[in-house]
Amino acid sequence: MTQQRQTALLNSLNTLAQRVPPYRPVSSGQLVRVVGLTLEASGCRAPIGSLCEIETTEGSLDAEVVGFNNDLLYLMPVEEIRGVVPGAKVTPKGNQAGLSVGMELLGRVIDGNGLPLDGLGPLHTEQRTTTHAQPINPLARRAISEHLDVGVRAINAMLTVGKGQRMGLFAGSGVGKSVLLGMMTRGTTADVIVVGLVGERGREVKEFIEEILGVEGRKRSVVIAAPADTSPLMRLRACETSTRIAEYFRDQGLNVLLLMDSLTRYAQAQREIALAVGEPPATKGYPPSVFARLPRLVERAGNGGEGQGSITAFYTVLTEGDDQQDPIADASRAILDGHIVLSRSLADSGHYPAIDIEASISRVAPMVISAEHLEATRRVKQMYATYQQNRDLISIGAYSQGSDPRIDNAIRLQPAMNAFLRQRMHEAVSFADAQLMLGQLAAQCKV
Ligand SMILES: Nc1ncnc2c1ncn2[C@@H]1O[C@H](COP(=O)(O)OP(=O)(O)OP(=O)(O)O)[C@@H](O)[C@H]1O
Ligand SMILES: [Mg+2]
Repeated sequence: MTQQRQTALLNSLNTLAQRVPPYRPVSSGQLVRVVGLTLEASGCRAPIGSLCEIETTEGSLDAEVVGFNNDLLYLMPVEEIRGVVPGAKVTPKGNQAGLSVGMELLGRVIDGNGLPLDGLGPLHTEQRTTTHAQPINPLARRAISEHLDVGVRAINAMLTVGKGQRMGLFAGSGVGKSVLLGMMTRGTTADVIVVGLVGERGREVKEFIEEILGVEGRKRSVVIAAPADTSPLMRLRACETSTRIAEYFRDQGLNVLLLMDSLTRYAQAQREIALAVGEPPATKGYPPSVFARLPRLVERAGNGGEGQGSITAFYTVLTEGDDQQDPIADASRAILDGHIVLSRSLADSGHYPAIDIEASISRVAPMVISAEHLEATRRVKQMYATYQQNRDLISIGAYSQGSDPRIDNAIRLQPAMNAFLRQRMHEAVSFADAQLMLGQLAAQCKV
C-alpha cells in the first residue's frame, strides 16, 4: 500500500470514528412510562441485551434492555413488576446476565438465571459464562453417524435417532409428551440429560421432577424450569440457559440429551416481548423476530467439533387443536431433522406412547442404522399402513378374509404390531432389544 493510500484510509477512519459517538454507559436515568410489560426509561444509554437496575419501593428490580427509540430505552423486567413508581431511578449495570456452569449442576433444578429452585443449597460452579455461545463453524461439526439409544422401542426401532440430531415432538395437549420425555430420561444411554421445562403449569414441573424423572433419572439430569407464571424474559432465558448448559457438557466431551418442553412456549415468549416493544405481527400474530430466533436456538444443538461430545435434542411443539399447520409447527418442521407426531386418537384408545409412525419421520435414520434394520422398518411400516388404509372396511366387517393376502397378513399381525409399538411408562427397551424384536416382526411381514 502506498503512503498516500494509507493516509487517506486513516483519515476516513478518523472521520467515521468522530461521527459514531463512543459507547458510554451513562450513570443513571429515570423511568418515564410503563405500558403493559414494557418499561420506558430516558436519560441513560445501555446496549440491547444488557441489564438495568430499577429502584422500586420494595428494593430493586432487574430489567433487560429489549429495544430503544431515540433516547428512550425499552426495558423488560426479569421478574414481576412490583413497587415501580414514576421517575424511578434506572441504572445500567453494563453487563449481560451471567450464568454459572459446571458438573455440580447434575441433579439440580434451577431457574432461567441458573439459580437453584430445589432448596438443596447454593451452587458452587466452576465456570462463569453468558447464555450466548459462539456458534460452531458448520464445517467443523462432526457428521451424524451413530445412533442414540433413547430407551423407547418405537423410536429406537422405527424412528432411530442419531447422536447430534434435532427432533420435534408434535402433539396437542395431554397426549403424553411429558411422559414420553420422562421415559427417555430414564432409558437413554446419553451421559447427561438437560431438561428445559418452559411455560408449563407450576404443578407439572413438580410432577415431572418427582414422578416422571424419579430419583434415578435426576442423578444425571439438570432441570431448568420457568413455569407459565414467570416473565416472558425468564421463559426465553430458560430455553437459552438449557441450551448453554447442554453446550457446556458437550464441550466436556459428553453426549447430551436436551429435552425442551416446549419450543412453542419459547416462540410465544418472544412474541410477547416483540409485540410489547412495537414489532408488527406477521403470521398469526407472531412477529418476524420469532421466526429468526427459532433457528438460532435450534442450530446450537447438534454435534460438536473433533474431541467434543454431542447434543441430541427433542423439542416439543404444541399443535393446538391438533392443527399441524400452526406457524410455529410449520417453521419447526423445516428447521428440525425429523419429527415424531403424537396422535390424539391413539392416546384416546389407550395406545401409549401415542406415536403415529406413519406421520413421523427421522431424517437421519438411514445414516445411523444398518441396511437390514432399514429394510425391516420399511416392511413393518408398509404392513402397518396396509391395516390403517383398510381399517374402516375391516371394522365394519366389509372385508372378507381371503380376498387379499396382504390385508389378511396385516390383520393377523395387527396385535403383534400394537404390542411392539406400545410401551409402559416405567419400562425401558434398549436399542439392541428393539432391533431384535423389529427383526422378528419384520420376518412375519413377508407378503
Ligand atoms: N406410556 C404411557 N403409559 C400409560 N399412560 C400414559 C403413557 N403416556 C402418557 N400416558 C397418560 O397420558 C396422560 C397425559 O400425559 P402427559 O402429561 O405426558 O401429556 P402432555 O402431552 O405432556 O400434556 P400437557 O400438554 O398437558 O403438558 C398421563 O397422565 C398418563 O395418564
Ligand atoms: Mg406436559
